[in-house]
Order: sequence, then structure tokens, then C-alpha cells
Amino acid sequence: MNFIKYKVPKKQPYRTWYHFQSPQNWMNDPNAPMYYKGVYHFFYQHNPHAATFGDKMVWAHSVSYDLINWIHLNHAIEPSEPYDINSCWSGSATILPGKEQPLILYTGIDNNKHQVQNLAMPKNPSDPFLREWVKHPQNPVMTPPSGVEVNNFRDPSTASQGKDGKWRVVIGAQNGDEGKVVLYLSEDFVNWTQDPNPFYATDNTGVCECPDFFPVYFNGSTNGVDTSLHDPSVRQVFKISYLCRHEDYYFLGKYVCDEGNFIPDVKFTGTSLDLRLDYGKFYASKSFFDHAKNRRILWRWVNECDTTQDDIEKGWAGLQCIPRQVWLDESGKRLMHWPIEEVEKLRDKQISIMGEKLVGGTILEVSGITASQADVEVLFELPELENAEWLDESEVDPHLLCSEEYASRSGIIGPFGLLALASEDQAEHTAIFFRIYRAPNRYVCFMCSDQSKSSLRQDLDKTTYGTIFDIDPNLKTISLRSLIDRSIIESFGEKGRICITARVYPSLAIDKDAHLYVFNNGSKSVVISELNAWSMKQAEFVQEESINKL
Ligand code: FRU
Repeated sequence: MNFIKYKVPKKQPYRTWYHFQSPQNWMNDPNAPMYYKGVYHFFYQHNPHAATFGDKMVWAHSVSYDLINWIHLNHAIEPSEPYDINSCWSGSATILPGKEQPLILYTGIDNNKHQVQNLAMPKNPSDPFLREWVKHPQNPVMTPPSGVEVNNFRDPSTASQGKDGKWRVVIGAQNGDEGKVVLYLSEDFVNWTQDPNPFYATDNTGVCECPDFFPVYFNGSTNGVDTSLHDPSVRQVFKISYLCRHEDYYFLGKYVCDEGNFIPDVKFTGTSLDLRLDYGKFYASKSFFDHAKNRRILWRWVNECDTTQDDIEKGWAGLQCIPRQVWLDESGKRLMHWPIEEVEKLRDKQISIMGEKLVGGTILEVSGITASQADVEVLFELPELENAEWLDESEVDPHLLCSEEYASRSGIIGPFGLLALASEDQAEHTAIFFRIYRAPNRYVCFMCSDQSKSSLRQDLDKTTYGTIFDIDPNLKTISLRSLIDRSIIESFGEKGRICITARVYPSLAIDKDAHLYVFNNGSKSVVISELNAWSMKQAEFVQEESINKL
């Protein structure tokens, strides 16, 4: 096999060095991630003709041995038949046990612009790269059922098998004001029938796109669970991407597979109490069970915050996050997230700061690394929490709280955190920070990613992102990790309890002119108990020489 190395073009300050991107043009949802015969597969929604969404979407396909360095292959699935002639939209893979045969269910936009579900199989299952896919002769295998709009029936999940041997998939849908998820069953993966019981419905959220439905261990174990395992040691996660909000929410609950019955612990409230996978720019996530390393891995699309004209000029739009390992925390109330360990292979030059006190008003530069591509982990030692200021968090909207100037406004315990992709004079910076409060009967922490000063440019979407979460009243330290990569900052608070992803387009803080700072604007000192920051090397992206269309 011969490969051609992909080089980041010059004058592309926002093209990332180690996040997955399409070689060119538009990319959105992750599709059918899986591990097969020693190879990780990643498919994605792609418009091969422009840096904008298109009306002939294809499944682009890349493979990897480590989820960080990638080989781009030819498109796996393209519009070709009456049942998908107007686009091949999102879907998922299921590896059938025994036969070890991967199958893909995807949404086709048919010749009537109706959404239908289709089945595709590898032409040669012994090819670990699964280069070619054939469409099943019985397609479409599912058409919009009654009570579902014909143009809102899409995104089949990975299937799980019940004890009765039947396969079950959930599919996103809508009818009028009601967003829905419908359940289908099959014995042979080709003939599907709809479960007559309503699976999930919600008002005013738009289509429930890209449902993901998977078990997690209930004992604090970071191990992943095969999608088809249903026993008392697991709890079920149900993730939905609500179109109207363009945000991913999840529910934890109990799933009785053979009854097709999922009972969430709590219902969707439409408030900041709902659980989200990430509180920033994040949509259409999809997970898979990596049986090579016994973990569940989550992908997701991170869209641009610049203008469509910018995307056309850049020649591309859309990123994927660094794949995250996900598991249920010990309390059983939240998912934890952490970048897969393989990303650490790209860590290069390291700088450390130990035991440095940050009195109120301090800004300290972390110099000596490439601040435009970096991995930073910092552990802050907190002062006594009883000093914290008061907040009745039922009266605040975390996103509003994280409004302009907030990082520079002085508090008591915080704001403290990082200024990433900052210009030397800090006129440009993205502030990722914590601020601790006393709330009725407990302490809470506010985590924010503030993009309002991320660029001198005015025409960008600089929405700030924030969330409030409970902390242990005896908490002595709090951690923050940020993966910084030219136009994306993925931040993980409290060892991965809270994630916030942001897209930024600095005009000064580019390449060697980007700086990284730690700051404290609280009147109480915090101590950098340990900070490690690394320059990040470029990941390798190559394409097969035989490739004919990308
Ligand atoms: C989510 C989504 C899916 C659809 C796909 C089309 O971003 O709208 O519902 O299948 O993108 O690219």
C-alpha cells in the first residue's frame, strides 16, 4: 500500500494539527465508528463538492491504528439508488457476533425526498480496511411509519441484541411539535418491525437526531460495556441531539431490553439541570465499544463559529473532537469523559510549574511550549471553601453568568483558570475558568469558557458557555485540562466531570504569537499545585495513493 502524506496548507492558521478533519470541504456527523480486525474505522457526513452542507451527502471513510493518525480512503457509501439518490445521511455500525460481520444501517433520502433506512455490508469482510460497501437488495429496510413525518425519520443507532435474540435499533423522528425516538426490532437485520409502544417523545425540541443508546457499568469502573450487554451490573445511557437546540443531552436510566422499555431517572426539563455531554460547541455525538481496549469511545462533530464565507475561503468546515473515553462516575449520576490516552503520544516539549501561589490579580505566563497547539493539565489548590461568595443558582442562567468580562471581574474564590490562544497583551484570549460559590446547603462550582475576547474580529459567533455543578464541601483541589489546537479548545473540568468545547479564530494569537497564561482574579489566593503543559506534535494524515475522489 502506498500513502500520500497530507500537509496542512500554509496560511491556514485555523486548520488543526491533531484533530480529525476532512482533507477538504464540509464535514458533519460522525458515523458508524467501530474497531474491526485491528483497525479503527471512522465514517463521516461529507459534502465532497463544497465547504457547506450539500444535497448529495456521502459517507467519507478513514481508518487508523490508534484513533489519532489517520488514512483517508475512498468514500464508503454514496447516493446511487432510488432509496438514497438524494443523500446518504447518518447511521451506525453493528458487528454481528459469531460471524464477526459489520453491518451499517444508514438513512437514505430517496427519490421522493422521504427518509428511509438502508442496510450496507462490506464487499470483502476479510479486508481490514473494509474499503468497499454494497447495498442490500431489499433496501429500504425501513420506511417512515405512521405518526412520523416522512422527512423526519433518521439516524439509526447501533443495534443491541436482547436475550430473545432479536436486534433492536432506535431511530430519531418528529411529528408536528413532538420530537420522537422510535424502536425497531428484527431477527435477521433485514426485516424490521416497529415496536408499537412509544419509546420516547418530547415537545418542542425538533427532531431527536442521532440517538445513541448504550450501557455503562454502575460500579465506577472506567471499562466500557458491549452495546448488547443488559444485566444488573449496568445502567443505560440514552443520548439525543435536539435539533432545535443543536445540543446533545443524555439520560441515565433503566432499560428492560426484552420489553423495549427505557425508564429515565429524570425527565427532560429544558433547563440547565438537564445533563449534557459537553456544554460548548458539540453535536451529533456517537459512541462505540472498543473491545480491543475494553472502553467506550465517544466521537462528535464540532461545527465552525466563523462565517460561511470564511468556510468557503478556508475550503473546509467542521472538526471532530479528540475521541473521548466515557464511563459512569462513582455516584452513578453523571458520565465522565477523558481524551483517549493515545493523544498523549503527540506530547512533545514539556513545561512544569509546581507549588506556585497565585494571589488575586495574578497572570502568569506558561512559556516555552507551542501555545497554539498544546495539552495543558493544571491542578489548583483551593482556599477554605467557607470563604466563598453566595449564589442562589436557581436564579441564574450559567451561560448568562459567563457573559462578557466575567473572567476579569474579581470574585472571592475565582475566577481562576487559563487564558488560552492569547495575544501577548491579552487583548485576545479565551478564558477557561472556575469560580466557587456557597449555595443553599452546599457548595457549587461554576465552569466557564468565555470566547468574548477570543478574536479582535467582530463577525464571529462568540457565545460563552458555562455550567454549574455541585462540589464536595471538603474539596481541596480542582483540575482543569485543555486541549488547544489552533481553532479549537476542548476543556475538561474536575477530571472530566464537565466538558466545554469552543471554536475560536484569533487574529493576533496565531502560531508563534499565541501565548498561554494561568490567572486568578479572586481575592483569595489559589495555588498551582501542579501544572504540566506540552507542545503537541502534528498527527499524521495520509491518503491511499489509489484514492480517486475525496
Ligand atoms: C445531524 C444531522 C442528522 C442527519 C445528518 C445529515 O447533524 O442533521 O440528523 O442524518 O446530520 O448530514
